Amino acid sequence: MSCSRSRTLVTGPIAGFHRRMETEAISGHPMRTVTWTEMAEGTADDYVYLDGVYRRHAADHIVDNLLNMVRLLEGPKLGYQVDRARHSRQSATRALRNGEPVDMVVAALLHDIGDVLAPENHSALAADVIAPYVDEEITWVIRHHGVFQGYYYFHHLGMDGDARDRYRNSPYYDRCVDFCANYDQNCFDPDHDDLPLEDFRPMVAEVFSRPSRLGVETAD
Ligand SMILES: [Fe+2]
Ligand SMILES: [Fe+2]
Repeated sequence: MSCSRSRTLVTGPIAGFHRRMETEAISGHPMRTVTWTEMAEGTADDYVYLDGVYRRHAADHIVDNLLNMVRLLEGPKLGYQVDRARHSRQSATRALRNGEPVDMVVAALLHDIGDVLAPENHSALAADVIAPYVDEEITWVIRHHGVFQGYYYFHHLGMDGDARDRYRNSPYYDRCVDFCANYDQNCFDPDHDDLPLEDFRPMVAEVFSRPSRLGVETAD
């Protein structure tokens, strides 16, 4: 996404911003820069303005950023027959063709993006990314898919393949079993006709343009 920038130095109070400030235009929106260096000095006007800038910026870039997170999974196959980006597209393609709601298709596409930044808890990272925009069940499924996926191989590593059983009383247990069976453990096929990543852009945009269902900074 392109953005045009211009910078102008402005002095004096402007719309609640005091002292010297910079203006900057990004994607057509004039932007000012606060002069303070400690948040405790900010005014209500400052924070209303900054909140708007932050939200516009996020809205402008979130879809590209998410698709690029999937692209970061391209390359090394790590011993499998497909790389992890292909695995992710295969997961989303299967979910789409199986008639799943767009929320689940997007969740499937993004379920392993945590591999890049959080190899020890990749499920939790992806779950927190989607949590504001999808329902509790899908968030739960993605948050727990790692341990449920273990059903297929943990026992080969001397671990408990039935570790998922600790969640048997969850109302989302069966959905997570289903996700791993149909959209994860079986998504390593190099001959599957997976959809290209860009085909999922409108679906990602639809889900991530929704208002957050969470409160302010409450990921739980
Ligand atoms: Fe995973
Ligand atoms: Fe996966």
